[in-house]
Amino acid sequence: MHLSGEFVESNLGTAQERDGSLTARLVADQYAFVPGCVKLAVDTPVKFRLTSVDVVHGFLLPATNVNTMVVPGYVAEVRTRFTRPGVYRMPCNEFCGNGHHGMWTHVVVVPQHQFPALAATERTNCVQQ
Ligand code: CUA
Repeated sequence: MHLSGEFVESNLGTAQERDGSLTARLVADQYAFVPGCVKLAVDTPVKFRLTSVDVVHGFLLPATNVNTMVVPGYVAEVRTRFTRPGVYRMPCNEFCGNGHHGMWTHVVVVPQHQFPALAATERTNCVQQ
């Protein structure tokens, strides 16, 4: 991937804003979301910002309001708040080719007090958990 600006690779994953809210930035490409897993805190305002580097993908979190198309050249933004800790699987929700059904990202929601202690790498590199 060769992206600049907001979606440069080092800027992906979860960032904490001054007001305590969280922003998770992800890039969609065939057939993965990058990062493949992000960590967030429970009971905290969360803003997802996504873009695509190739075709139209979809970003869906079952049982929440998170459901948006991810279109190349545009930034999709959706806000939510997780009310329970846990591991959430977020599938691609728009047919994008042969690998569509295997295209997922994972969101790990941790208790609020745990989040500030996580290093920047731990906030994004949680695929193995
Ligand atoms: Cu990406 Cu379906």
